[in-house]
Amino acid sequence: MTWNMPKHILLDTDPGIDDSLAILLALASPEIILDGISAVHGNASTNQTTRNTLAILEMAKGSHVPVYKGCDLPLVKESLLSPETHGDTGLGYAKLPGPQTQPRAGHGSDFLIESIMSQPGEVTLVAIGPLTNVALAIRKEPRIVKNVKEAFVMGGAIQHAGNTTALAEFNTFVDPHAAHIVFHSGMPITLTPLDVTYQCIFTVDDLNRLLKIASPITKFIADSTRFYMEFHDEYQKIDGCVINDPMTLALTFMPEICDYQNLAVDVDISTGVGLGNTFADFYNYEKKPANMRVALGVRPRMFMELFLERMEKLAKSIS
Ligand code: RIB
Ligand code: CA
Repeated sequence: MTWNMPKHILLDTDPGIDDSLAILLALASPEIILDGISAVHGNASTNQTTRNTLAILEMAKGSHVPVYKGCDLPLVKESLLSPETHGDTGLGYAKLPGPQTQPRAGHGSDFLIESIMSQPGEVTLVAIGPLTNVALAIRKEPRIVKNVKEAFVMGGAIQHAGNTTALAEFNTFVDPHAAHIVFHSGMPITLTPLDVTYQCIFTVDDLNRLLKIASPITKFIADSTRFYMEFHDEYQKIDGCVINDPMTLALTFMPEICDYQNLAVDVDISTGVGLGNTFADFYNYEKKPANMRVALGVRPRMFMELFLERMEKLAKSIS
């Protein structure tokens, strides 16, 4: 196995239970240098997702990572939050001390711009919430599209049912106009849709393996995912919970978890029942070039083993 230099990652996120697991995975992975986090609305308000980000970093001894507050609202639509999925605080039943640290001054979209433009070709963007901050950054400074090294986006459902409407996944439904801007920007995107994330279920057996280690990390994972599992059982009859976001992050350094197709993908911004729906032109009827690489095949246990091993390592280091 050749050792690659660690990747510089910018994480745009709406913690959110599975977002929290992605932050923990980033901190536990030597393949990643987490340059900073921009918080966005989605699973909870941006004030709440910013507080959650700070609290999770403090719990995991990651407070050296700068945090910036981003957009409070979608670009066009009304706000849509998801307390039924992530709880009133966004972290399920987990109770973290109020953060002692503060977000940095400046807007999250400006943080993304400054980080990408100051390190051309060096920075990997991972977007695991509604794409409002990323779209705003592209409109403010279109050159980030060419200066970002790559972008990994959690969102969409290509040949899979929606998880927010019958057709639409949460991140693209909450801000479809932002998704449209990002999808058509020319940014080098790898998309991780529900098609693959719904094959990666974190189960009670997986949790019980982690609980063999007494640590604030494992207690947090248990308390947050217990709420998330109750949601998945009640709404989707799933025995466990879909951890979309850490899987997206894992692809930045272990792409072999998935199989990919280069496809022309679009998002519906019309005002009908398909709003936020994402679809791929598999037979290229529109004769348009592919605008992204889409993960459509996955090796679930390869990802889950990686995730569990990294959480065990992190939990042992934090008592
Ligand atoms: O549809 C799943 C996505 O929406 C995940 O990123 C989850 O955290 C929510 O933001
Ligand atoms: Ca998310």
